Amino acid sequence: EKNNFDHFMLKEIYEQPNAIKDTYRGRLHAEEGIIRMAGIDDNLERFLNARRIIIVACGTSWHAGLVAEYIFEDLARIPVEVEYASEFRYRNPIINSDDVVIAISQSGETADTMAAIKLAKEKGAFVFGVCNVVGSSISRETNAGAYTHAGPEIGVASTKAFTTQITVLTLIALKLAKAKGSMSNTDFHMHLQELETIPQKIEIALQGNDHIKEVAFKYKDARNCLYLGRGFNFPVALEGALKLKEISYIHAEGYPAAEMKHGPIALIDEEMPVVVIATRKGHYEKVVSNIQEIKSRQGKIIGIVTEGDTSVRDLADYVIEVPDTIESLTPLITTIPLQLLSYHIAVMLGKNVDQPRNLAKSVTVE
Ligand code: F6R
Repeated sequence: EKNNFDHFMLKEIYEQPNAIKDTYRGRLHAEEGIIRMAGIDDNLERFLNARRIIIVACGTSWHAGLVAEYIFEDLARIPVEVEYASEFRYRNPIINSDDVVIAISQSGETADTMAAIKLAKEKGAFVFGVCNVVGSSISRETNAGAYTHAGPEIGVASTKAFTTQITVLTLIALKLAKAKGSMSNTDFHMHLQELETIPQKIEIALQGNDHIKEVAFKYKDARNCLYLGRGFNFPVALEGALKLKEISYIHAEGYPAAEMKHGPIALIDEEMPVVVIATRKGHYEKVVSNIQEIKSRQGKIIGIVTEGDTSVRDLADYVIEVPDTIESLTPLITTIPLQLLSYHIAVMLGKNVDQPRNLAKSVTVE
């Protein structure tokens, strides 16, 4: 079942190019400039009249929600709030009948997410599900939805579910942007074409595996690790840190790069590896100056950079290159080296990668 891979997690990391193709197959028609999604078409008015979108999820799915917040607001100009399902359900949230709630869940069985959905429905909101497991409880409870079609995810650490969730949410944002007219036609077509190239670009990112293994070997004994990113890549930093924590048990934190100076910079010393997502599109110069701040405090820098980058290379201890793409789609690519880095560190430390301690694949208790 693992084919030639040592672990399900690694297999699932490598499945991402095909999983993403499966996600957009039949939906994305780049040549014609059309996105077909029945769950959106059938409820288009609800989405277009929504005063805001509230996204509820847990863990990695919550991180996908955060990426979606940047994408929906940037492309479709719809206000978005992203909530941990467990907080949302217990804080007497303000929900109106013209709100659209999007619930994201790989398993479709997460108890907190399910409870948030029930609450939103009681208050009259329209609830749309983004699930991977077909026929799961959440997919049945929601008013409409779109499956990720990533195939079974066995490794407890979520990988292909994350990138396919982002793919589905990007398709939705683009579809709404088109219907609202919030994007120019040229920009819309460019996004569709670029989305179609992402699987190929992930293949290229995966070719960095041997180099990433060397970086993993260098930092496997760290006690702590920081992950930094800005804009669309801030949630990727959170996700990178979560992947490292859950399978290697190394303490890791994700932060928006500019928040460093408000506290976490105090942690930096020569023992602290800092993974910085510093791709060419999106606040690049600002991230480079954040890197300089880390370097002047002797932190060890691992830069996730666009192919051909030189500025970060001059400052960093290691760089991991990824192919260029448009800014809103970078999370689909920058996530890949972070998954591989965590995977290799956990394997080198002899941890049970597919079944980390204390964790379950679906969290059906609150
Ligand atoms: C992280 C991970 C968890 C899940 C979370 C939500 O790798 O697997 O954080 O993302 O428990 O699960 P789903 O998406 O099934 O609702």
